[in-house]
Amino acid sequence: MRTILEERNFPVGSIRYFASAKSLGKVLPWKGSEVAVEDAASGEYRGIDIALFSAGASASSQLAPKVAAQGAVVIDNSSAWRMDPDVPLVVPEVNGHALADMRKGIIANPNCTTIVAMSALKALDRLGSLRKLVVSTYQAVSGAGLAGVNELAEQLSDKEGQLMWLAYDGRAVDFGKPVAFAGPIAANVLPIAGTLVDEETNEEHKFRDESRKILELPGLEVSVTCVRVPVFTGHSVAVYAELARDVTTAEATQAIAEAPGVRVVDIPTPLDSAGRDFCLVGRIRRDPGSRPAVNFFVSGDNLRKGAALNAIQIAEAMIASRS
Ligand SMILES: NC(=O)c1ccc[n+]([C@@H]2O[C@H](COP(=O)([O-])OP(=O)(O)OC[C@H]3O[C@@H](n4cnc5c(N)ncnc54)[C@H](OP(=O)(O)O)[C@@H]3O)[C@@H](O)[C@H]2O)c1
Repeated sequence: MRTILEERNFPVGSIRYFASAKSLGKVLPWKGSEVAVEDAASGEYRGIDIALFSAGASASSQLAPKVAAQGAVVIDNSSAWRMDPDVPLVVPEVNGHALADMRKGIIANPNCTTIVAMSALKALDRLGSLRKLVVSTYQAVSGAGLAGVNELAEQLSDKEGQLMWLAYDGRAVDFGKPVAFAGPIAANVLPIAGTLVDEETNEEHKFRDESRKILELPGLEVSVTCVRVPVFTGHSVAVYAELARDVTTAEATQAIAEAPGVRVVDIPTPLDSAGRDFCLVGRIRRDPGSRPAVNFFVSGDNLRKGAALNAIQIAEAMIASRS
């Protein structure tokens, strides 16, 4: 978030950093100076215009109303407020108008996997009215925070000479005990991202519920399987999007190419998306089945567009709507 505020020359008068009490005493840079980290539980939030939250759902549930009550608009990265009917859930280029209805002084930043698919899906909805989505996700380890990044890096380190033996036996390499994920993530895919809440994971619920809210299609049928893959950054989604009317591949490609925040490419990959602000969409094709539908693949940086960038774009849209 700090990097993106600087990159985008966001109009910051002054900045304050908050974390838990254990980070008291730390200093972090801001444009050549050092800023001391404050304890977020201090209760002193007056004078803050915009509070960018990324402290997890339980901290956000407690703190966001307190900070908003002292006059700040809270933009929250966690899942705590996303499905609250009085809190807008915003991807600015898709449903920026939702910012007008801000009763609680809190705006929710959507789930990182959901965000990367929204602009292309909005374009298809405008083109042919979405009826149903069937999606499989390919989620990077950084979506599980630094712990996920470290786990993949450790499992890959010093293993070069041994990895080829996995071609014959999946147990040929000892990757150690998994902590952040349900099994070894190196040289593997895990068809469970997030935690099981019923027959589905919380990530699968988030994709369905948040897509319906952002696209303003409460009746949209959404079938999701969330998969964790050995990629450091860049969430990808393979999408089957059923429409109310038949559209050609050329029409779908043009509509998606004109969507904001999207670049159409032949082969979108997470590696190509990591570190970029736009999402890459490709393999766009009319589905050959009996129902009108379009298939595509999208990759987007889960830390940028999936989190920090979208939060700051929300702040920019809010400022623009007030000026
Ligand atoms: N990683 C992603 O791709 C991604 C994408 C979208 C959304 N999110 C969401 O963003 C949130 C944070 O994820 P992250 O990956 O950024 O986590 P993270 O790297 O673990 O950072 C969490 C931060 O929150 C602070 N914090 C924790 N508890 C706090 C409390 N009670 N009061 C004040 N500060 C507190 C921590 O400070 P201390 O070090 O002092 O504890 C730390 O600075 C989660 O809700 C996550 O689901 C993550």
